[in-house]
Amino acid sequence: MKSQEVRSKFLSFFKEKKHSIVPSAPLVLKDDPSLMFVNSGMAPFKEYFLGNAEPKNSRIADSQKCLRVSGKHNDLEEVGYDTYHHTLFEMLGNWSFGDYFKKEAIAWSWELLTEVYGIDKDILYVTVFEGDKNDGTTMDQEAFDLWKQFFPEDRILMGNKKDNFWEMGEQGPCGPCSEIHVDIRSAEEKAKVDGKTLINMDHPQVVEIWNLVFMQYNRKASGALEPLPNKHIDTGMGFERLCMVLQDVKSNYDTDVFTPIIREIETITDKEYGKDEKIDVAIRVISDHVRAVAFSIADGQLPSNTGAGYVIRRILRRAIRYSFTFLDQKDPFIYRLVDVLSTKMGEAFPELKVQKQLIENVIKEEEASFLRTLEQGLVLLDGIVKSVSNDTVSGEKAFELYDTYGFPIDLTALILSEQGLKLDEKGFKEQLEKQKMRSRAASEMSTDDWTILIDDAVQEFIGYDALEAKVKITRYRKVSSKKDGDMYQLVFNLTPFYAEGGGQVGDKGYLEDGNGNITYILDTKKENNVVMHFAKDLPENLNETFMASVDSKQRYRTECNHTATHLMHQALREILGSHVEQKGSAVHSKYLRFDFSHFSKLTPEEIRDVEIFVNARIAGKLPLQEKRNIPMDQALEEGAIALFGEKYGDTVRMVRFGQSIELCGGTHVKNTGDIWFFKIVSEGAVAAGIRRIEAITNDALKDYFVDINKTFVEMKSLLNNNEPVKAIQNLQEENSSLKKQVEALLKDKAKNLKGDLKNELSDINGIQFLAKKIDLDAGGIKDLCFELGSQFDNLFLLFGAENEGKALLSCYVSKGLVESKGLNAGQIVRELGKHIQGGGGGQPFFATAGGKNPGGIEAALEAAKSYL
Ligand code: SER
Repeated sequence: MKSQEVRSKFLSFFKEKKHSIVPSAPLVLKDDPSLMFVNSGMAPFKEYFLGNAEPKNSRIADSQKCLRVSGKHNDLEEVGYDTYHHTLFEMLGNWSFGDYFKKEAIAWSWELLTEVYGIDKDILYVTVFEGDKNDGTTMDQEAFDLWKQFFPEDRILMGNKKDNFWEMGEQGPCGPCSEIHVDIRSAEEKAKVDGKTLINMDHPQVVEIWNLVFMQYNRKASGALEPLPNKHIDTGMGFERLCMVLQDVKSNYDTDVFTPIIREIETITDKEYGKDEKIDVAIRVISDHVRAVAFSIADGQLPSNTGAGYVIRRILRRAIRYSFTFLDQKDPFIYRLVDVLSTKMGEAFPELKVQKQLIENVIKEEEASFLRTLEQGLVLLDGIVKSVSNDTVSGEKAFELYDTYGFPIDLTALILSEQGLKLDEKGFKEQLEKQKMRSRAASEMSTDDWTILIDDAVQEFIGYDALEAKVKITRYRKVSSKKDGDMYQLVFNLTPFYAEGGGQVGDKGYLEDGNGNITYILDTKKENNVVMHFAKDLPENLNETFMASVDSKQRYRTECNHTATHLMHQALREILGSHVEQKGSAVHSKYLRFDFSHFSKLTPEEIRDVEIFVNARIAGKLPLQEKRNIPMDQALEEGAIALFGEKYGDTVRMVRFGQSIELCGGTHVKNTGDIWFFKIVSEGAVAAGIRRIEAITNDALKDYFVDINKTFVEMKSLLNNNEPVKAIQNLQEENSSLKKQVEALLKDKAKNLKGDLKNELSDINGIQFLAKKIDLDAGGIKDLCFELGSQFDNLFLLFGAENEGKALLSCYVSKGLVESKGLNAGQIVRELGKHIQGGGGGQPFFATAGGKNPGGIEAALEAAKSYL
């Protein structure tokens, strides 16, 4: 059975059982700070489990993209070494939100596996939760009895809390689970070892395929469990493992999910899969990681230096490192696998097809840059190796290489062992631990349980129409972090405050009680669909009715920027082409920022055209036309643009200004005329194929014009001229002719100097030596070194120079000395650079170092002499 069919059979089975089939949510969820990536099928539905929202249908099924590379569920380091763990995988799931429970979940899983997929029941085992004393939970007798209808008792095994109690995080809904395992070993092996003894023992052919979670408790911050009012079902089946069983192969990598990618790697690298374990691991790593990285980029998560972006970068680097070492790939090639991936999976996941070129560009650029890092790291490591006094490289040195230069530690260890050297692994781990502690301390946060004042989860947002409202506080909690200290999060029964989302910042404002006491709301954010208002202090009487007022000025400025963002999006697609995809936006009160896919820098004409386009629509005074709560299909039919990487509900809000139509939850001006004027202030690259524009409108633009004018007036008076452009051109011409004169003079000076310096050379151990501070610029010194160098073949020069408060050291070593004495100008300046508080490098025969302490030049010159 082809993987496409495996997926569609699952979905149609549950469709028949009255489930709504929904598309996979994006890998990064915007309003769940507890998760970096979606790591299980249930993550996008947390708001339903928590009771913060109600699904239209209480039965849902889907195939969800999951990434297990951070936090509580992290499989990254295992991937490649076994045949059934992945970074990115698909989780097939069916859910009941307060609807059916164990009886149906168990019976349907049995029906699907044995009747629809036709899996032989003799290869199946199930596990049931045995209970846990500390939690006060008992054995799941109900599940046991239900399984007994289908299974002989000896195939129903008991499992402990670690394996059979599922929790989505430290807090929140949780419950016992039943896992279904398969044993796909050969008959001979089965005869030798009973499958029962291999369950949950990491055997590659005795693996869990499906987890049925029975959500019946809520874990509180204190650690205690309380029963949930509504019981839910959350199931998750590993799609790739199911394909392995149904395609009768022994490894996920032998299914048609992976084989096309593996064949392509074999063709490109000229290596064969299945012959040598080291090569096989590398091929598995690459074929797995390219999927994770490609899907993440398609969902808008680009590799970067922080947060989720950094995790993606590390995954890709892990793949590059394996291909570099074990497949001998020194040039980018992983990006070339995107083609087969998008052909293979583009039907189920159109985001891969549509954004293929972007994904390829981003991966290629990352590969090229990390390969450069690897090469640079090899040179640095070479330097470290040459300078070790015993046979061990210190943990600190290795850590610096790892942390500052991104050079992988396992590669360091491998290279050292090839040279008969050791790595102080313990020292390295200590450094790593220290760094982790530092970042943990910075991000430590604790969250109290909610205090419920009014037990009403329903919360209405009225901020599209009103900026003020009488509200009651329904619940609150305290969060404490090192960064912000103590903060309170307040939830109201209804709110005019817009919560950060869709790029738009959260509203600020205040609450006022009947006596005029004010509590400031510093920010508004959404978490799993609950709007939380942040305050430094709690109001005195929490049970009062408050007047809640949004800071209208900030809101208005933000709205100008949000509407302008839509108009600019439209302009970019008109002017640059429909390949332009929004890749992120930030709408603040002072400016807007918009990232989008496009492959070259915008020309000044294009930027001007975008401004003209937007300003024409502002001048056209287009009214806001808004449709709330319309079905997604209707909005798409009317021409709205849906974005990849966004999670949309059953119904959406459509925002239209003229021909600009977007699905958007943000707030907007009532008429484009309110924006006053629009101006782009910067355009640049964020990553390969992604451009960023920053622009301003309204008040910020008025300030901008006032500032520009002030500068212009000052400039004119400085130039003492009414034609400043002409005056600047004259200055430039004059400057360039003066520069030429100075250069000629310096050359002359250097010539004279050369004669003088020759007489100052002294002989140290047979080397012609000179260390001296001179008054020349960097280019002049270099020329001088090479001219003197051409006249001697055992010359060592070190020149110090001071220029505009900075220090420069230049070192020249005759090639003969590099070879015969092992002298290396690069190493020497790096060492001597310490005296001038700087660093540098270069080649063995010529190198320079710059530093901020000219006072140290003399010491460096002295040190060179004693060094020789
Ligand atoms: N949440 C469960 C899991 O991830 C079942 O979907 O295993």
